[in-house]
Amino acid sequence: MTERLRIRRPDDWHLHVRDGAMLTRVVPYTAAVFRRAIIMPNLVPPITTAEQVRAYRARILAAAGPRHFQPLMTCYLTESLEPDALARAYEDGDFIAAKLYPAGATTNSDQGVRDVANIAPVLRRMQDIGMPLLIHGEVTDADVDVFDREEAFIERVLRPLVAAYPSLRIVLEHVTSAAGVAFVQSAPETVAATITPHHLMINRNALFQGGIRPHHYCLPITKTETDRRALRKAATSGNRKFFLGTDSAPHARHDKECACGKAGIFNAMDALGLYVQVFEEEHALDRLDLFTSLNGPMFYDLPVNLDTVVLEKGHHRVPDSIDTGPHQVVPFMAGETIPWRVVSVESAA
Ligand code: DOR
Ligand code: ZN
Repeated sequence: MTERLRIRRPDDWHLHVRDGAMLTRVVPYTAAVFRRAIIMPNLVPPITTAEQVRAYRARILAAAGPRHFQPLMTCYLTESLEPDALARAYEDGDFIAAKLYPAGATTNSDQGVRDVANIAPVLRRMQDIGMPLLIHGEVTDADVDVFDREEAFIERVLRPLVAAYPSLRIVLEHVTSAAGVAFVQSAPETVAATITPHHLMINRNALFQGGIRPHHYCLPITKTETDRRALRKAATSGNRKFFLGTDSAPHARHDKECACGKAGIFNAMDALGLYVQVFEEEHALDRLDLFTSLNGPMFYDLPVNLDTVVLEKGHHRVPDSIDTGPHQVVPFMAGETIPWRVVSVESAA
């Protein structure tokens, strides 16, 4: 008999869908499974205004088609953002949160923040109005090893930030290290973290398996096996501070397979199945829906979903690539066989 699993429909609390032809092709993969997704604002130019985000949201909804899907939009924090404008857009429901990219830390982050002291008025206002701050937690200092950037960020920036803004709600996005997990666990209730499927599945050896593997390159970079184990333990623990965020980040194949390849892993096609695989391997399927479907809404103070998703166990082959208009994108686990895949979404309505 086919093995099936039914879970409460999840949300993706960290997602990149890009724009244009790429957006049109990648959004349906997410909208087919997830009820809501927090959309990252690192476009060129970045999403910083209510006007921009309304138009972007409409393009995402058009790509999602008739699927029951809600994009939750975020504002890209720059050092010139006005607290009043941000607060208004939050109160009008245009933005659900704001994203802090340290300048130079990752894809399209050059207009990000050089020093958090420079955005103190914005952070104070966010704290006052209850607007969550989503953080790419890596320093860019040249003296810090690329594998230590998250831990250095925690000590140099995040720990002081949490102390300075005790009621600001903060998500350490895509936590990747044992140090990051320990920090989140010991931090006040205001601090939570998302975890990606790829950081649960691969360590840094995967970057160099038989040669250099550009499709395993993302930021923060994958870390040691000890770090990966700490992430698995945190995700499967049931602790309400940890929830699903795929960080699916598509790039055209030629932008990954070149002399200076871009960071980002496109996992939207099979993200939920990969999380299920991890929870099954950890004998924690009984805690799956906390991570996928309950802890996130609790943090964001949103209703939980009533729809359900059915997954089937089998031998599912991940395609080698997908066409996104003029270019191709290579998905995470391309060409491999994976056990779990979503077969249907059942609406409660
Ligand atoms: O790997 C990544 N890709 N990490 C990020 O922080 C950004 C993302 C992207 O936008 O490509
Ligand atoms: Zn991201």
